[in-house]
Amino acid sequence: MSSKMECKPGKIAVVGVGNLGSATAYTLLLKGLAAEIILIDISEKKAEGECMDLCHAVPFSCETQIRVGKCEDCAGCAIVIVAGGENEKPGQSRMDLVSENAKIMQDVIPKIARSSPEAILLIATNPVDVMTSLAQKLSGFPAQRVIGSGTLLDSARFKCNLGKYFKISSKDVNAFVVGEHGDSQVPVWSLASIAGMRLSDYCEQSGTNYDKAALHKIYEQTRDASSKIIECKGSTAYSTAAGLAQIVSAILKDEGVLLPVSTVGDYYGVKNISMSVPVKVGCNGAQHVVKLPLQDEEMKAVQKSAEIIKSVCKQAGC
Ligand code: LAC
Repeated sequence: MSSKMECKPGKIAVVGVGNLGSATAYTLLLKGLAAEIILIDISEKKAEGECMDLCHAVPFSCETQIRVGKCEDCAGCAIVIVAGGENEKPGQSRMDLVSENAKIMQDVIPKIARSSPEAILLIATNPVDVMTSLAQKLSGFPAQRVIGSGTLLDSARFKCNLGKYFKISSKDVNAFVVGEHGDSQVPVWSLASIAGMRLSDYCEQSGTNYDKAALHKIYEQTRDASSKIIECKGSTAYSTAAGLAQIVSAILKDEGVLLPVSTVGDYYGVKNISMSVPVKVGCNGAQHVVKLPLQDEEMKAVQKSAEIIKSVCKQAGC
């Protein structure tokens, strides 16, 4: 394990300032997480426009230097967020984007790695598990310093939906979705809890029906949320941006918080892929500290998810 890195003041680059990248930069600004934000995009005009708009928000938020740059300008960045690329169209899956978005990673990652060899890479480009594997291979960075947003967003959606079902705040629900950030994601029902109680015990206490059909519907709503939103507004942005900001905060403040994010490792017998399980996120990036005691059915589903990621990784050359 490398020695503890100094937590640099947040110089952060955002590569790709489409809906997600610009929402992420805006979230970092409002939360005061970055001393400096560098906006990078293939369209310099787009980056200029986002830069001007964000600069005009500074007087309403936290003092932050915001400028347009190139991948070669990432020197000294604590974190480089990669949010560029296509997002899925209605009817497409995230895995359908692999060829197009792998080309973008092959272009930007080597430049970023050269200009900021000590940075932590935070990948949001889909299919995020495969792109995270590819970014780790192309950068040569240790796995702990290449983090994909993974199922952090799916877990948030899962908690939202469970909170609605049980009529309590989503913040009072402790639940993880693991595996692929995609159609084969796995809700870990057996470890989900409310006030430290298993869901079935909470149902008994609260007089709520432990209705398996209703809970399965919650899983489907969680898994399909992105495609529903894309059907309505073309892409998602705010939720992923908020999730990325949580990861940035965990790194820059060395929070040591357990987050379901995607990092390269060996999972349940499938070697050298990136997928989400809860990992400890802090100043040094992501460290595997817990191995979830999954039930047989959950274990089989996670292994299937890992195999799906592995097969698409082969297609992407990682
Ligand atoms: C979503 C995209 C980011 O789940 O994959 O909203």
